Amino acid sequence: MKDTQRPPHIDYIPAEPRHPDSWGPHPRKKMLMTPLVVALGGLLAYFTVVAMVVVLPTTTFDPPPSPNNLALTEIQEYGRRLYLSNGCIYCHSGFVRPQDVAAGQYYLYPRIAEPGDYVASDQSPNMFGSERTGPDLSESGGFHPDDWHIAHYKNPRSVTPISLMPSFEFLSTDQAASLIAFTQSRQGKLGAIRTQHQLNMKQLILAEQNLSQTLQADYKIGYPGSDNLANLMMMERGYWFESNPLPVTQENLLRGREIFQQRCIGCHGTRGDGEGVALNFLNPPPAAFSEPDDAAHGSDTSPGTYYWRILRGVPGTAMENFGTRLSVEDIWRVVLFLKTIPNGGLTKTPTPDMYVAWVGYPQLFTWANCFYPESLATTNPEVTYSDNSPPGVGDVAAMVEQGSVNPEYAVILYMVENGKIPCGADDPNTSALDIVNAAAQRPTEGYARMGVSQLQFIPAELIPADQYGQGWLEKVWTKPMPTQDPPPN
Ligand code: HEC
Ligand code: HEC
Repeated sequence: MKDTQRPPHIDYIPAEPRHPDSWGPHPRKKMLMTPLVVALGGLLAYFTVVAMVVVLPTTTFDPPPSPNNLALTEIQEYGRRLYLSNGCIYCHSGFVRPQDVAAGQYYLYPRIAEPGDYVASDQSPNMFGSERTGPDLSESGGFHPDDWHIAHYKNPRSVTPISLMPSFEFLSTDQAASLIAFTQSRQGKLGAIRTQHQLNMKQLILAEQNLSQTLQADYKIGYPGSDNLANLMMMERGYWFESNPLPVTQENLLRGREIFQQRCIGCHGTRGDGEGVALNFLNPPPAAFSEPDDAAHGSDTSPGTYYWRILRGVPGTAMENFGTRLSVEDIWRVVLFLKTIPNGGLTKTPTPDMYVAWVGYPQLFTWANCFYPESLATTNPEVTYSDNSPPGVGDVAAMVEQGSVNPEYAVILYMVENGKIPCGADDPNTSALDIVNAAAQRPTEGYARMGVSQLQFIPAELIPADQYGQGWLEKVWTKPMPTQDPPPN
């Protein structure tokens, strides 16, 4: 290598610039940021934040209890402690964000939680978990009936086959009861009204199921049976005769089957016969979809009525409200699929030729005219509307109006008390309006009213023994749950 290729050697740049002697000592020699200064500054910043975030709010933020606030009972208070000690808080949050309100439309009484809901001393400190591994529970009061919770705490997979929630089977009966009472207390008074609504519906449905077999028979006697009538009264009448907007394609059927296996088999069974693992824990029991005859002619088995019940659930029964979890299309797909079950849709690959089309029966349409209001005039030429039929009977709008007569209760109570079907063969002249008016004029304050126990109005002989509350809980909580359904043939 030649010398000429080397860079020229530079020797005149000093390692550190000199400074005139008149300047003071170098800054490094007179350090301002001493460890003490850093520590004090850090503490000052820390305490300022603590004062703003912790001290100020706790001393100055004192919202009045909201009108919805309801103090916990002793048993709910115990449930709250179990909720904390069993780690439920790690997976569930307890407050509603404004962006969750859209999901709330499928609840009765949707609303956003407000600070005043949580100020009672028994709710303090708040247990707002931040994880949403499971659903937010701030509004869970009355979202499910007690029997659903029993099966769910025993084994979450029994009611939600895809659930990752652990089993709480190890709790004692009293502990399970307290945890259920606490879950049902969420959202104060609104939660309590919903919970009472669940109980009322259960009482009415069970009483109705104790009516004579003749009254329960469906199209075979020429008008909707009592069970189907109770179901029809729960939904908006626009859905009664609605057909499925989706075509019967194999793709739709396969997606429907997938949903059924992910979410429905725990209750409705791997064969769709209503005998899932949760069967013995639920009262009333899950419906069976296996009879082609019912699927084609039943009063409450049209695609629209199936859709409505999957969307909103069936209050008083464990049938869930899937409106927050399934898309509209997916609900219609599972409705398509249900109609292949009688022809083996669950045991073989479902194909369009297995589909049982719903046709209804002539007397059903005659009967429906008793209840169909003008606003819901339908494309079905058999169905006109009745002048006697008040807007609101069977509509959700009427159901949620607090303090007013609930037409759904009124109609079921009518069947239970009189032993006949309104507008049925025995009683062709009873109109829905008569029933609701009569109910409204009943002297007793609570008759057919939301939030007031309906048990007092049910004739004693129709009340099934030991079907509610602690007695029922004790009976089923101690029972082992089958771990697996036999696989379909
Ligand atoms: C590992 C996480 C996890 C833990 C711990 C957990 N859950 Fe859950 N929970 C879930 C998931 C996921 C779901 C949704 C699926 C299902 O219904 O099981 C759920 C659902 C629920 C529901 C039904 C909510 C709804 O809107 O349908 C309730 C009520 C509930 N859990 C209560 C509890 C209670 C009480 C505890 C403690 C005893 C608990 N959970 C512990 C994950 C968890
Ligand atoms: C936790 C148990 C449970 C789960 C899960 C469940 N159901 Fe149900 N379902 C019931 C019960 C109980 C009834 C009976 C209600 C009654 O007595 O009116 C029912 C009734 C129904 C009905 C009305 C049937 C009729 O002829 O009366 C339909 C439709 C239905 N379920 C569909 C579904 C679908 C689809 C799924 C899954 C996406 C599902 N269910 C999940 C318990 C359940």
